[in-house]
Amino acid sequence: EDAGRLGAFQARIDAEQKIEPNDWMPEAYRRTLIRQIAQHAHSEIVGMLPEGNWITRAPSLRRKAALLAKVQDEGGHGLYLYAAAETLGVARETLVEQLLSGGAKYSSIFNYPTLTWADIGAIGWLVDGAAIMNQIPLCRCSYGPYARAMIRVCKEESFHQRQGYEIMTVLARGTTAQRAMAQDALDRWWWPCLMMFGPPDGESQHSDASTRWKIKRFSNDELRQKFVDATVPQGHYLGLSFPDPALRFDEATSHWHYGAIDWDEFRAVLRGDGPCNRDRLAARNRAHENGAWVREAALAFAEKRRRKAAA
Ligand code: 3HC
Repeated sequence: EDAGRLGAFQARIDAEQKIEPNDWMPEAYRRTLIRQIAQHAHSEIVGMLPEGNWITRAPSLRRKAALLAKVQDEGGHGLYLYAAAETLGVARETLVEQLLSGGAKYSSIFNYPTLTWADIGAIGWLVDGAAIMNQIPLCRCSYGPYARAMIRVCKEESFHQRQGYEIMTVLARGTTAQRAMAQDALDRWWWPCLMMFGPPDGESQHSDASTRWKIKRFSNDELRQKFVDATVPQGHYLGLSFPDPALRFDEATSHWHYGAIDWDEFRAVLRGDGPCNRDRLAARNRAHENGAWVREAALAFAEKRRRKAAA
């Protein structure tokens, strides 16, 4: 790619112009967007599994309805994101195949088990809370289709976060056993949620380019800190404690200082050695096989309609 075109492209980015599918773009820009949007889409689809695990066991019809709506939303988020990735010239089937074969990344957080109902509260409150922190800036991403997909995703995420925090509130104000469930869920989900934001800035190989191209508006550590600052007071309001003895409020910076994250655990999960990686892939492959007849029927119906229209 000649320097002139690269310079003109960067000038558009610097001028806060949106890059659209038919615009010229550097191959590296296209590739990193396909990488990130595909993983984002895979995260939404795999994220349906830990939550779906509790639809049949929700404690009330109201909780079941909210959880059904949330899981359905996640499927829709995956759809928008695979569609956004397709505008960059990659077929959805190719991306789905990469996920099913175990060759694609998705957010580490979904490789942890949902052991009690309180986990559904913790996921809504913490996981969707972290996702909101990460997805609000993506609404201003330089690539048009990705930014626009994020607008609706963020609206739905705030419902997800709200219903999760309400579940935690009811449990935290409930019986001793319920409070213990809420505390146990916070203990197990807190550190994996901090890992959702990615490795520390010094070890993030994509941040420089993604920041220059205004895909990433804040660094991994900046978003992680924003999430900690927003979430710790919410946990304290519920009378819950965080599993971090080093956690303390720093008056000088007005930030909550937190302890060291176990990056060995993070790397193990990314390698496929998390608690549920194999289960998640097996479940995805089973669902894909069981759903083949639906795809075939939809394609056959579309073909019949096409023939009728052409006749
Ligand atoms: N899980 C899995 N892989 C991760 C990760 C995580 N939590 N954090 C980082 N990685 C990977 C990166 O993909 C990259 O690997 P790759 O080169 O094979 O893609 C490597 O670790 C180095 O990380 P970088 O910081 O250099 O990578 P990025 O610049 O891509 O930053 C990110 C990572 C912040 C997750 C960024 O990719 C991003 O913003 N992605 C889109 C949003 C997203 O996926 N959010 C999490 C899930 S959203 C969700 O769950 C929806 C809600 O319904 C719960």
